[in-house]
Amino acid sequence: RLEKIWLAIGVAMLFVFLGVIGVGAFAMGMQPPTGHHTIDPEKVSETYPFNNPGLEQVGENEYNAYMIAYAFGFKPAKMEVPLGAKVHFQVTSPDVVHGFQITGTTVNLMAVPGEVNHYTYTFDKPGEYLVLCNEYCGAGHEFMATTIIVK
Ligand code: CUA
Repeated sequence: RLEKIWLAIGVAMLFVFLGVIGVGAFAMGMQPPTGHHTIDPEKVSETYPFNNPGLEQVGENEYNAYMIAYAFGFKPAKMEVPLGAKVHFQVTSPDVVHGFQITGTTVNLMAVPGEVNHYTYTFDKPGEYLVLCNEYCGAGHEFMATTIIVK
């Protein structure tokens, strides 16, 4: 009789355990990629969150900015950022290595195919910030630019 109770408890524990793993894996799957997570470069434009590049609010005054540097341009082509907000830039490339440098800031990332590189920055001054590619990437290298408007 006692064995049956213990067996029942054991089975119940097992289910709880599996449930926790399942929920954890599900939650992980829903997380935006950070760090050097791999991403299929050929499927960047179809892969969340880069299928919808731009700003996504993740906290009261906190955003993720999903950016794609490609030959030869950036997505989104223009982006507005609220003044004083904490912005987690996440940058990748679907083709070759590009740079992602925001002039007048400390944001200077490499956009590497297959990786998502990230950097957090808070814009304390309003204005228009120019984003440039600072890695030579081909014939259109000097035309790669986008604007971040902080207000
Ligand atoms: Cu892209 Cu230089």
